[in-house]
Formats: sequence, structure tokens, C-alpha cells
Amino acid sequence: MAELTQSRFGKKGWTPERIKDLSGRVYVVTGANTGAGFQATKILLRKGAEVVMLNRNESKSNQAIADLKDELGADAKVSFIQMGLGVLASVRRAAKEVINTVPRIDAMICNAAVAQVAQQVLTPDGFESQLGINHYGHFLLISLLFHQVEQAKGRIVVVGSEGYKMGLKTIQFADMNFDKNYHPNITYCHSKLAQIMTGYELQRRIKAANKEVQVYVCHPGASKTSLINKDAPLMTRIMFSLMAVSPMVQSAEKGSYPEVMCATEDGLKLQAYYGPTGRMNWVGPVGECNLEPFALDEKIAAKLWEVSESETGQKFEL
Ligand SMILES: NC(=O)c1ccc[n+]([C@@H]2O[C@H](COP(=O)([O-])OP(=O)(O)OC[C@H]3O[C@@H](n4cnc5c(N)ncnc54)[C@H](OP(=O)(O)O)[C@@H]3O)[C@@H](O)[C@H]2O)c1
Repeated sequence: MAELTQSRFGKKGWTPERIKDLSGRVYVVTGANTGAGFQATKILLRKGAEVVMLNRNESKSNQAIADLKDELGADAKVSFIQMGLGVLASVRRAAKEVINTVPRIDAMICNAAVAQVAQQVLTPDGFESQLGINHYGHFLLISLLFHQVEQAKGRIVVVGSEGYKMGLKTIQFADMNFDKNYHPNITYCHSKLAQIMTGYELQRRIKAANKEVQVYVCHPGASKTSLINKDAPLMTRIMFSLMAVSPMVQSAEKGSYPEVMCATEDGLKLQAYYGPTGRMNWVGPVGECNLEPFALDEKIAAKLWEVSESETGQKFEL
């Protein structure tokens, strides 16, 4: 499968050279002030698009906008709306602002995340932070902005992680907050699996409802970003900083290619999983990666959908 997609994009895999002029298109990117989200924003702006960043930190966002305008010119169409994914009320407020101020959404890239949080931390809504920010926050945001995406016959891009297959490989409904078995990495992997499974469940629901929204699921491989930060256990930080200077880890820019591809490339397959296809899927040409069958488990995904609706207090109407 990977070979097929790779050959479609040539030996180098998908690269931004394939993107045509994006003038008039509008992209919403979560967590775009740094890392892969920042790089994705830059690529989209370079192609003439408008990008609205949904970030949690105002001063980092202003700096990111200043940096982008320095590099691309003062007329780069980039703006930001404050949104903390770990606070449901903040997601609701930001979604309202998007609905009121953003003319169309050609793609919403669900990129923001926290990872490897050393200790169990609860969000103000009472969710374990990695699940609360990565999954519930995005679930609510997608639900609230679905009709804006639909109006533009647009796309939703779920940024997952190869970690989806390094954890429990299922959803731990009996203890979603990991009160009994919290583990920085396993709990992160659980949150990324929840995001990925929800992406495929959304594809199925869109098909059943006969709607014209595309959902694509991807991952950035292993990329040099600020994801492993002061919140991660010391050993994880040391390990990642050593790996980051090796060829096993690629640049943040390359890490953004899969999400940009999913937001812009036509004719991508659904029920597929896109990212770097080289060593361990951490680096290398961007194309289609192998997808483990448990990520497509329809029963678990349907139950997760119900739990997510109930926990966020948001009925997801398609
Ligand atoms: N880098 C990798 O090797 C790797 C591997 C697998 C998957 N991924 C995935 O790739 C995506 C991008 O991550 P990255 O590596 O670029 O990490 P990053 O550099 O740490 O960027 C993450 C972004 O998410 C934002 N964010 C974090 N918590 C948030 C919250 N509560 N509300 C709103 N925004 C929040 C961050 O904002 P602040 O700057 O304010 O913290 C930042 O803008 C994530 O989905 C991650 O899971 C990355």
C-alpha cells in the first residue's frame, strides 16, 4: 500500500511543490505558534492561503505572526484566535469567534497536542490532560465547526502519532483518566489513538449522512519540535534530545508535510493513514503508512464517540 502511494508521488514522496495556488482558501490550524503547526502555516501562507491559528498563548502567537510576516511579507494573511483546548468553555468561545469572523474553512488541521506529561494532571473540566487537550478538546472543536467546513466542502485533518500503536491499542473506558495506571507515554498514546479512531468514525458518519466533508488522518513521524518539554519526565527529555541530533529525527518542517498534504492534496484515500514512510515511519518520503486494524474497530469507536459527546456535553450533529 505504502509503495503505491509513494509511487504516485514519486521517489521523494509528497512535497509542498505539489501545492497549487491557494489564494482565496482559508485554513484553521490548532497549535500553530510553533512546531509542525507553525511550519504548516508557513507553507500554506507561501501558497497564498489565509491561515487562522487557534493557539492558547497570546504572546507566543503574536511572536509567531511577527516571524511569519518578517519572512513572508507584511501582507501574509495570518491571524490568531485564542483557544485553550484543555478548557471546554474556551473551545466554545473560540469556535463562536471563528464562526463570526472566518469567512470559510477549506481545512481545519487538528494539530495541537501535549505529550509525555510526567504526572497525571486534570484539566479544569476534570479530564486527564493529554486526553482532555488532544482528544476531547478537538472533538468539541470539530463538532462546533463541522458545518463551516461542510459549507466549503472542506476537510478535517487529524494529526495523530505513531504512538497510537505503542500504548494499550484500545480505549480504556473503565478509567479514561488513568487514575489507576497513569503512565506518561501510554496515556499519551491512548489520547492519540482516541483522536485517530474518532477520525475514522467521523468518516463513517459523514458517509452515512451523505455529507461532503473529507477527513484525513496523518502523523508527522519523529520531528524536532517543542513537544517533549519541561512537562515530560527527565529521562524522556534526555532521550529525545539525543535522538533529535541523529538522522532518526527530521525537521519540524518535514514533520508538517503530512498535515499539509492532507489539507491540500486531491484524491487521497479515506480509511488511510499518511506520514513519513522511511525507517520506522519516523522519517522519509511522505505517503501512505500501514494502519493497524484496531484503529478501525467500529464498536470501540462508536462507544468512544458516545463517551466524548457525554463528557464534552456536545451532541455532534452531522
Ligand atoms: N514532534 C514529534 O515527533 C511528533 C511525533 C508524533 C506526533 N506528533 C504530533 O504532532 C502534532 C504537532 O506537535 P509538535 O511536535 O509540533 O509539538 P509542539 O512544537 O509542542 O507544538 C504543539 C502545539 O500545540 C499547542 N498546544 C498545546 N497544548 C494546547 C492547549 N491546551 N490548547 C491549545 N494549544 C495547545 C502548543 O502551544 P504552546 O506553544 O502554547 O505550548 C503548540 O502550539 C501533535 O498533534 C503531536 O501529537 C509529534
